[in-house]
Amino acid sequence: MKTAQPITLVLGATGKTGRRITQRLEAAGLPVRRGSRDANPPFDWEDRSTWDAVIDGVQSVYISFQPDLAVPGAPETIQAFTELAVKSGVHKLVLLSGRGEVEAQQAERVVQDSGIDWTILRASWFCQNFSEAHFLEPIVQGELALPVGQIAEPFVDAQDIAECAVAALTQPGHTNQLYELTGPRALTFAQAVAEIARATGRNIEFVAVSPDAYRQAMEREQLPPALIDLVLYLFTTVLDGRNTPVADGVQRALGRPWPMAYSGHWDARPATSATTYGALPLRASGAMAVRRKAVAGTGFVD
Ligand SMILES: NC(=O)c1ccc[n+]([C@@H]2O[C@H](COP(=O)([O-])OP(=O)(O)OC[C@H]3O[C@@H](n4cnc5c(N)ncnc54)[C@H](OP(=O)(O)O)[C@@H]3O)[C@@H](O)[C@H]2O)c1
Repeated sequence: MKTAQPITLVLGATGKTGRRITQRLEAAGLPVRRGSRDANPPFDWEDRSTWDAVIDGVQSVYISFQPDLAVPGAPETIQAFTELAVKSGVHKLVLLSGRGEVEAQQAERVVQDSGIDWTILRASWFCQNFSEAHFLEPIVQGELALPVGQIAEPFVDAQDIAECAVAALTQPGHTNQLYELTGPRALTFAQAVAEIARATGRNIEFVAVSPDAYRQAMEREQLPPALIDLVLYLFTTVLDGRNTPVADGVQRALGRPWPMAYSGHWDARPATSATTYGALPLRASGAMAVRRKAVAGTGFVD
């Protein structure tokens, strides 16, 4: 008799990591339930009445929280979700967390104390912030202005995160492991933008602005105060140099050396980059790096 294969729930299934994880699991023929406000059944962090139907019958869960585990109330929400997951018979939780975010570690501890198998993926800033999120529009316009100077960040590619998540969800050996996921080299934002400019053949400038000037610009864009605080927290507190050292989480999780990994190879993927950036129409105005659409609900980026 054929037994049903266990279902994996991927939260944030339309996002940078969740989409790639879903693709990989489905390509392997594994049953996936997509966690999204637009899925059927829908999942909304802000509406707990949506959680039961989504968790029903699930064996493992990839948790990508919105807007960020460091925001007030996030540990409580993760606690409530974790308790429901355990009660529903979930065996494994894989939590995406942010590197250098001390506040996020409270939510990590909730998952670590759940009593079921867990893996924490504590990631540095994603390469895809430049190509799939709030930095894209200003980059296409030719100038990215951000409140960060010479701090270097080992940007990690969402594909590497997805591969680590799939390994944790499907293979033994990752139980109760915390992986710090970074790329193989740290770049300043100016260097990252220069690499993208070189790879795409476009003129793109990076401009460092003060946190105050950035706050004022976000206020002019009428972004919600909580989002403004989160953005400035990420650019000042998290980007104070604490995350500059490269970590070996991708290598440990995947058991393979850097040259095989995606991270840090923007310049080695010019075709992809040129397609991503070059195919987009140039848009007028709104040079701020944060898009208003992104904050209509709770999402930091869409
Ligand atoms: N981006 C980075 O550099 C970075 C670095 C380290 C850690 N992280 C963490 O990674 C996570 C993902 O962040 P991201 O900014 O990169 O976003 P993302 O995963 O690219 O996109 C947001 C995802 O969240 C979903 N979502 C938004 N609001 C939701 C809600 N109220 N309920 C349920 N799902 C919701 C969206 O789905 P639908 O719109 O389809 O509902 C979408 O799938 C966050 O916890 C962030 O702190 C990000």
